Amino acid sequence: MANANADTPPKAKRRELIPGALIGRLSDLDEPLPHSIKRWFFAWGSIPGFFFMVQISTGIMLTFFYQPSPETAYESVRFITEEVRYGWFIRSIHMWSANLMILFVFLHSTRVLITGGYRGKGRWATWMFGMTMLILTLLLAFTGYSLIYEQLSYWGITVAANINSYIPLIGPPLADFVRYGAEINAKTVSRMFAIHTFLLPPALALLTAGHIFFIRKFGLHVPGNADDIKAEEELQKKKGPYHFFPQHALAELVVFLYLGVVLILLAMAYPVEMGEQANPLVTPEHIKPEWYFYATFRWLKIFPGQVGILMLGAVAAIGFGWPFIDKQLQKLAPKLELAMWLGALGVITMVGMTLLEAISK
Ligand code: HEM
Repeated sequence: MANANADTPPKAKRRELIPGALIGRLSDLDEPLPHSIKRWFFAWGSIPGFFFMVQISTGIMLTFFYQPSPETAYESVRFITEEVRYGWFIRSIHMWSANLMILFVFLHSTRVLITGGYRGKGRWATWMFGMTMLILTLLLAFTGYSLIYEQLSYWGITVAANINSYIPLIGPPLADFVRYGAEINAKTVSRMFAIHTFLLPPALALLTAGHIFFIRKFGLHVPGNADDIKAEEELQKKKGPYHFFPQHALAELVVFLYLGVVLILLAMAYPVEMGEQANPLVTPEHIKPEWYFYATFRWLKIFPGQVGILMLGAVAAIGFGWPFIDKQLQKLAPKLELAMWLGALGVITMVGMTLLEAISK
């Protein structure tokens, strides 16, 4: 103890050491990780988290100017885009970051699906939280788009509410809740705004905290066969674990910096534009949702009405229960990796439907 006191610098000097102390605090975040996470496609999960932070900060800035009512919504978005200093830039970052967040949620869940990341004790909970996060992310995008009050966003809500009402029992009241009545009306935009800003972001933040809690509690899955697991064990014995802090955290920070640059370049090269103002009396010739709803949209064109909705519900239920379905498949054919092939087939079907909708008029 005497030695420690002798080494302690005087107060003024100690203040300079605060960054060091901070690093000491951050090192409490350390967690032993498998070396497999060093492969870049195994670490996509944190990227939607990065874009979520961008969404929160740019979203707060946009709320300073956005006015949620049918008379003012479109005009306030135009004001942000054309008159507020750098308003176009903040809006463009918000739009590009939303698209990239969804892209990386899809990529991350595809990686987890194909490598069986949901396998092992308790990881079903990580998976189920993830599935709910996927749905909330899509709802965030949908409600955000509807706020612009352009022709396509207005008719997007109309189509979505009609589709919703096909869901047995809960569909019609759910559609009424979203619209605040049987028809889109003056209160629909403020309801969408409340859902987009006050309900979904805190819910997604809580779910993310739960997701990370489960990842830490149950650990990361070591992918591959018995040989890969043995190789990982040997690596752990020889080199010790790969550390979350500082190694992995610093690697992720570098990725975030690159992504930040990509985001800025995209916002500058392809800034958001204003579409035509919503007109409830004129139905657009072609109604097309955003790219992330293409597969669902195409599905409902192939199987219209309640049949299509019930099939989509079944797909979602299978998605949630996948870790348990996989267990049964493994018992049925232990060597065939049926879940991986079926998962890959599901992803290929989704990408195929998305492309089909993208090229159709
Ligand atoms: C906003 C969305 C999400 C965020 C921020 C997020 C974050 C993360 C992070 C940081 C990891 C650690 C490993 C990695 O980086 O890949 C992870 C792992 C995991 N995620 Fe997510 N995730 C999200 C969505 C999802 C979705 C949609 C699913 C599945 C449907 C999912 C299921 C899992 C599972 C099962 C693991 C453990 C993987 C393993 O042990 O190999 N996550 N997530």
